Amino acid sequence: MISQLSIQRIIEESRVEEVIGEHVSLKKRGANYIGLCPFHHEKTPSFIVSPSKNIFKCFGCGKAGNAVTFLMEHAQMNYVEALKYLAKKYNIEIEETTQQTSDEEQEKQKLAESILVANSFAQKFFTDYLLHTEKGKIGLSYFLERGYDKKIIEKFQLGFAPADGDTFARHALSNAFNKDILSKAGLISSNESHVRDFFRNRVIFPIHHTNGKILGFAGRVLAKNDSSPKYINTPENEVYIKSKILYGAYFARQAIRKMDECLLVEGYTDVISLHQAGIENVMASGGTSLTTEQIRLIKRLTNNITILYDGDQAGIKAALRGTDMILEEGLNVRVVMLPDGEDPDSFAQKFGAERTLQYIQDNKQDIISFKTNLFAKETANDPIKRSELIREILNSIARIPDPMQRAIYCKECSQHFQINEQIIVTEVNKLRRNLASKDTPHVAPLETNEQKKIQSIHGSQLETTTNTIAVLEEHLMRIFLEYGDWKIYLSENEYTTVTEFLFEELEGIEIETPDFLKLFQLIKQNCSDGKILPVSHYLSLPDEEIQKCILQIVSEKYAVSENWWNKYKIVVPEKKHFFIKDIESTVVRIKQYHNLKQLKIIENKIKALSETTNSGTDYEEEITKLLKQKMLLIEQRKEFASILGNVIYNPAVI
Ligand code: UTP
Ligand code: MN
Repeated sequence: MISQLSIQRIIEESRVEEVIGEHVSLKKRGANYIGLCPFHHEKTPSFIVSPSKNIFKCFGCGKAGNAVTFLMEHAQMNYVEALKYLAKKYNIEIEETTQQTSDEEQEKQKLAESILVANSFAQKFFTDYLLHTEKGKIGLSYFLERGYDKKIIEKFQLGFAPADGDTFARHALSNAFNKDILSKAGLISSNESHVRDFFRNRVIFPIHHTNGKILGFAGRVLAKNDSSPKYINTPENEVYIKSKILYGAYFARQAIRKMDECLLVEGYTDVISLHQAGIENVMASGGTSLTTEQIRLIKRLTNNITILYDGDQAGIKAALRGTDMILEEGLNVRVVMLPDGEDPDSFAQKFGAERTLQYIQDNKQDIISFKTNLFAKETANDPIKRSELIREILNSIARIPDPMQRAIYCKECSQHFQINEQIIVTEVNKLRRNLASKDTPHVAPLETNEQKKIQSIHGSQLETTTNTIAVLEEHLMRIFLEYGDWKIYLSENEYTTVTEFLFEELEGIEIETPDFLKLFQLIKQNCSDGKILPVSHYLSLPDEEIQKCILQIVSEKYAVSENWWNKYKIVVPEKKHFFIKDIESTVVRIKQYHNLKQLKIIENKIKALSETTNSGTDYEEEITKLLKQKMLLIEQRKEFASILGNVIYNPAVI
């Protein structure tokens, strides 16, 4: 069994637009992608893929889902096959649930966890030593001299390793850490007679996993004339696997998603200085040449990499190697060469955020101009050198997996060098055939089943909401899913969550839309158990009904409330109603609906009663009771109307 955690990771880290992009031609439209629905026949596209929500939905046939469901529906995979396919594609390790993992694997897992605990302990020790001890001051002043402020030092959890030789080891051992684990973590070396710290007299850069856990460390010497290596790193172990790590990943993740671009630098100090300057979408390869695994790590976040290397010989060489690998992974790559003698660290420190960003913007080159400029001098008057350069560029183009993008580059190259496009295309194709074809998994849709598929989809499509209560309830569910854990402050230090608030307000009210009922009750149950869970939790439940429901709710179409209001002809007092107003009015509207429904029932009863010829005390009592109820409901109704302000309530839509 694949563990729930892995399933969640796979769903979260898969990029739905990429997975679907392999099967359906998608066009970018705003934040989303749009294409012709593969599940039903259509001429104008109504198939939407939302990268931010990581889902797809067809507004024609109602089919909706995430990367897993897409593969299941479109590529004939079963649940486990789809998960495994995505795990492979995105380089995610699959964690099996414990009952079925072998003892050996469990041991490994336990060791990895112990190493992480030791690393976290070590980080706290190094940071504390840097910030709060006399002997650590030398490390602190090193960082301060380099222009780092306290805030950034704390953010990156920088530290200092004592010079004495075994201070850390003794501290860890006296805190009941196992010698064996400390050695495996690479924090100490030990033999029969004595133990020794691995990092000594170095400033420390902890290296974080994307989840924030510390995988290992880099230690830098203080003195310029020190003969030992400038940086040393934690030796490879169960958790520190250099080829899979990018420095800064934890701190850059969100910014990269937001900017849809990853700046790639070489060094730890580059990452930190750029961060300090406010440029946060940056990660470092850490001096070694870029690996495919590292590129795939970036690919989970964005398709756009901008390499920002030193302008020296080594930097150029590294950039050249990097670009080809990035192209091969199907990503877009640009290169920014810094002036000779500068690295991003020194540049950002010298010129600050604005000029650094401006420089990046002005000097971004695609592979054609990068290579052309690089060899401009040598090739200027030498036709042979020039043709070598062109071949070099075509070699890069040939690595691009996407035919459309390849074609665009060919065209560009033809224009740039004034060479017939057809010749370029032929050359690229030739080079492509020569390139050892890597076997990337590709799942082709089975044409033969197409017809059957379409029929089955039409049978199971989601019903579109057509009346107001369904829309209100959909909106209510959206609030649960998207804002459920937001806090509503009742006083300065007393708060409730949106979820709790809603259930309290809606006590006694059940949802009417059958599609939402199961999820509603599940959220309610969790809430009464004290659990407010994120949408990703509900999405990862292997329950098709719930998944469908969520996808219907969170898909983009009604996300903008303004559309919603307009669509259902409900006039809102101010266009810019705030979050809390939105919640309040949703609750009140739902109550209003139930109030009106109740009122109709009562009125019918009164009517029925007054049409009978009965009289007497029983009758009097009954009719008085009903009239009282009616009054109460009318009171309530007025109250709701006043809460909603000058909202014009149109009962005709119910
Ligand atoms: P650099 O030598 O360019 O160092 O190596 P740097 O990042 O500018 O560091 P400072 O500014 O001198 O402190 C670039 C990267 O190569 C790796 C490190 O990741 C470094 O950040 N490196 C370098 C090593 O791993 N070991 C070394 O001995 C040198
Ligand atoms: Mn540097």
